[in-house]
Amino acid sequence: MNKLRTTITAIGKYTPKRILANPELEKMVDTTDEWIRTRTGVIERHIVEKGEATSDMGAAAFEDMKNRFSVDPLDIDLIIVATVTPDMFFPSTAAIIQHSIGAKNAWGFDLSAACSGFLYALVAGLQFIETGQHQKVLIFGADTMSSITDYTDRNTCVLFGDAASVVLLESTKGNDDSGIIDSIVKMDGAGQKYLYMAGGGSKNPPTHETIDKKMHYLYQEGRPVFKFAVSKMVETATEILERNSLTGQDITLFVPHQANIRIINACASKLKLKDEQVMRNIDKYANTTAATIPLGLIEAMDEKRIKKGDIILLTAFGGGFTWGSILLRWGFNYG
Ligand code: ACO
Repeated sequence: MNKLRTTITAIGKYTPKRILANPELEKMVDTTDEWIRTRTGVIERHIVEKGEATSDMGAAAFEDMKNRFSVDPLDIDLIIVATVTPDMFFPSTAAIIQHSIGAKNAWGFDLSAACSGFLYALVAGLQFIETGQHQKVLIFGADTMSSITDYTDRNTCVLFGDAASVVLLESTKGNDDSGIIDSIVKMDGAGQKYLYMAGGGSKNPPTHETIDKKMHYLYQEGRPVFKFAVSKMVETATEILERNSLTGQDITLFVPHQANIRIINACASKLKLKDEQVMRNIDKYANTTAATIPLGLIEAMDEKRIKKGDIILLTAFGGGFTWGSILLRWGFNYG
């Protein structure tokens, strides 16, 4: 059986209304707007209101998709939600979103790969399209990082924001050559000690002690993560370009995970990309974990930076360690 090709046919996003800008953080921890801008590239981030969860952001992103494209929730076969901040351990955030958007005919699951979650979920989702098992698959990248951030720790609280974004995967029609061309996804569990949330799971179930020790917040050793992020993102980006006989010059847009502007710039420089080839929106949203890449794609689409036929390179690195690259040819013009 010939494999079908998978393409993105619709996209939507949601960012919470409340903005937490650097000057407000200056009042919360010992930091400065200048340090945050120059060391991370972040100027402001969006933060949920109390009671607003990852599934709510996901459902709002789907609503945005419905407003932009003609998508019927009843046609959806499968929902995959990339997140490290699910509403709760179970039921899955996928199940909660399925109910709130009325996708009654879909099954689904959550996928945990931290900042590489969206890439992992795309690779998982495309298997179901390529085998012909499913026709319409929703891939969410959604994280409420503010729910696991310690706003008394200046090392981490300046880095993260909340957002959700969603893409619809379908098979390409007829002779259309758009779609996902190639993917590389990698993992090295030896990196677990640098980036984790220790409390709340089966290893350290919640107790007063785990709360007192702040084990329900994200912990990160920034320097080693920074080094691995640059080298692994560049490694897979280079490999995927080379094995498809492409160079950086063939790419219309590089959409890297938005963790730090210095990581993005180092990758862009090693890949010899021009400024206009690189998506940067970390200034407005900070690191929204699984949401950064689809958020970058939809903003690029809205800013008319991508059109049908353009080649796009997605690259991410995150907790696990997990990392990877996806190469795709964009399938439609918007607006
Ligand atoms: N304001 C002022 N000073 C600060 C702040 C702050 N907000 N944060 C740290 N500092 C200080 C540190 O205390 C340290 O001071 P010291 O030298 O007196 O000890 C100094 O600044 C330098 O600290 P570093 O950690 O070396 O700073 P660095 O330049 O490495 O930047 C950062 C830290 C931004 C965290 C960076 O290392 C980074 O971006 N790392 C990678 C993040 C990443 O890619 N994560 C992966 C995805 S996340 C996920 O998967 C969930």
